[in-house]
Amino acid sequence: MPPALKALLAQLGGWFVAWLLARFGLLSAGIWPLVFAQAVAAVVVAAGLRSARWWLPIHLVFTPLAVATLALGIPSWAWLAAFVALALVYWSSFRTQVPLFLTNRKTADAVAELLPTGAAVLDIGCGVGSLLVALAQKRADLRLTGIENAPAPCALAWLRTRKLANVTVARGDFFARSWAEFDVVYAFLSPVPMAEVWEKARREMKPGSVLVSNSFAIPGVEPQRVVEVDDRRRTRLLVFAL
Ligand SMILES: C[S@@+](CC[C@H](N)C(=O)[O-])C[C@H]1O[C@@H](n2cnc3c(N)ncnc32)[C@H](O)[C@@H]1O
Repeated sequence: MPPALKALLAQLGGWFVAWLLARFGLLSAGIWPLVFAQAVAAVVVAAGLRSARWWLPIHLVFTPLAVATLALGIPSWAWLAAFVALALVYWSSFRTQVPLFLTNRKTADAVAELLPTGAAVLDIGCGVGSLLVALAQKRADLRLTGIENAPAPCALAWLRTRKLANVTVARGDFFARSWAEFDVVYAFLSPVPMAEVWEKARREMKPGSVLVSNSFAIPGVEPQRVVEVDDRRRTRLLVFAL
């Protein structure tokens, strides 16, 4: 079951249990006993659905915080505005389970060292263009392409790269586009899509090309090379040969 559906079921389950307890007179009067009953029940349902552990504290505080913020008198349009802003940044993360975080400069420098002269490079899920901009500044010989499906990061990546002659940014799903023309595909995603990414790379990329994964392993596949980056998060670049 997708994590977002589990989260929804946990919250609804929590409300159902709280409603039952209230209906049978098992809760004291007032909103807070109801709220806390819902929160605890939501945690129990989430655990029963085998949600990842970090969801449990979120369920515990979700409804209490929502109710507490009602006292602040924040207008309803502000909630909608915050929702729209977050949706534009994170877009399909609830489904892909790939959040937005950025390649740092030291890692981009290490990637630049790996790339052959004149290589065609694709950054799958290019975020705000951090890798593309760093590579374009360092290596004018490269042909760089980024694909990003979240509208706000994609717009920012496009803005940052619009004057860089060797960079193209497109909006869309990287699984829907062919990778056959690229010598190097760079992925900084999450553990979730890596098996599918590898399948697509094997199907479409030509012999001699490489897939570089920032941090995330491909289940059951040994990288040909691992580059340890001397940055704060001790980034590892896993290089897989096709
Ligand atoms: C961890 S960020 C990496 C950003 C960038 N590559 C970098 O290294 O700075 C991953 C990005 O992949 C995007 N993404 C995830 N799945 C995608 C898909 N199927 N198609 C296009 N973009 C996707 C997310 O929206 C997110 O911005």
